[in-house]
Amino acid sequence: MRTRLAMAFLMLPFSLAANSAGAPGAATGAPPSEGNCTRCHAGTVNSGGGSLAIEASTYQPGQRQTIRVRLTQENRSRFGFALTARLRSNRQAAAGTFTAGSDTRISNDVIGGAQVPYVTHSPARNAQGTTTWEVEWTAPNDPGGVVFYAAGNAANGNFNNGGDSIYTTTLEIAAAAGGNRPSINSGGVVTATAFGGAGRGASGSWLEIYGSNLSPEERRWDSGFQGDNAPTALGDVSVLINNQPAPISFATPGQINVQVPDSPATGNVQVVVRRGTEQSDAFTLMKLAEAPAVLAPAVAPFRDNDRQFLVALYPPNTPGCPATGDCFAGNFAGVASRLPRPGDTLIVYGVGFGPVQNEAGQRLPIAGQIIRQLNRTVQPVRFRFGQTEAQLTYSGLAPNFIGLYQFNVVVPQVAAGVTEIEVSLGSTNIGQRLFLQIGQ
Ligand code: HEC
Repeated sequence: MRTRLAMAFLMLPFSLAANSAGAPGAATGAPPSEGNCTRCHAGTVNSGGGSLAIEASTYQPGQRQTIRVRLTQENRSRFGFALTARLRSNRQAAAGTFTAGSDTRISNDVIGGAQVPYVTHSPARNAQGTTTWEVEWTAPNDPGGVVFYAAGNAANGNFNNGGDSIYTTTLEIAAAAGGNRPSINSGGVVTATAFGGAGRGASGSWLEIYGSNLSPEERRWDSGFQGDNAPTALGDVSVLINNQPAPISFATPGQINVQVPDSPATGNVQVVVRRGTEQSDAFTLMKLAEAPAVLAPAVAPFRDNDRQFLVALYPPNTPGCPATGDCFAGNFAGVASRLPRPGDTLIVYGVGFGPVQNEAGQRLPIAGQIIRQLNRTVQPVRFRFGQTEAQLTYSGLAPNFIGLYQFNVVVPQVAAGVTEIEVSLGSTNIGQRLFLQIGQ
């Protein structure tokens, strides 16, 4: 129960077979060099006195819309077309997918090793002077623009391949502004707010990323584990920190919680949120060797007008505490609590306290993996109650969690009353101003 509480804060923390049943798709004039309908149909190209047009508005990445292909020429009565969509950034690559209609079909051609779809008439259409095909198209996730290539045959209906008028055209469309592109707020990357919410990170520390369009819906990491390894994507949502995929526990449209991957890099690192093939602008985060912070959410009852209290919990079965549930050290309204006395052992949770090693002195992974053995922080952690140093009976990553440090702190011989608690890692104070009320 107790460790669940801390984690709850973290969660917050192509053949010639072609015929009138459909043009061979790969005859739209698209890259790399596929040619057009005149590969088989003898006729003029774009000079028959008619026209071919593609009609499409801007697109929403991933969303379906109707594309219209209009072919017009006087005195013609049998019409056919083919259409393909390519990424603006790579015109040999498919952009999205087509859905076959009642008189259209989909064919695929292999370009550069990948299948690229075409939509074409099936069968050819009888009409007088003009016809318009409506094609259902699902846009790609790539917001970088799409180029359509189409070819049309306004045929003379002589049932042979001569005397036709062939037309080709292209249309480029852009993604609609403000689509699904994720965006990180200014100042929107902080360490877990329940742990002080400082605007800096370290290997293994938990970050909260605030912004818009970060995820299509609420997603949690519960089912994403591979053995003890945490997922680095929740569906199509992921975060890169200094180009490394970050373990990710939680994502909503407005917030993502990630752990900083373990790497020696310090200084300014780039945080980028990816959603499908879209990504946010990079947010620059200051990454330090360590960014220690302990659990002390700035909310009642742990925060009053002028003091921030440390969250310190009693182990199970502590006299004076309820038999089940969290029991806090202090005198707090609305939660089970009792004043701690010298000699009591209190459990304090932290993030960002740097490397740990096991009993044999081997370093353990501090990011992306559930810890299964007892361990201790490589640098010493100290708790002072006023001027008096406390003994720590455990100072390491909490077994069965990821990136959550646990400190078992024995209350020293200090006078009753509200006492300032100083926490340091190595020789540096962690920078949170914290208090605890001691009893006697
Ligand atoms: C590989 C050869 C080939 C290519 C390329 C080709 N066609 Fe055809 N097409 C044929 C054959 C063969 C027929 C059958 C002859 C017929 O029925 O008149 C045909 C028939 C048609 C017809 C029916 C004409 C009629 O008089 O009934 C239409 C319309 C048509 N093609 C459109 C196209 C369009 C549009 C393209 C380019 C996107 C295209 N074809 C590309 C081989 C081809």
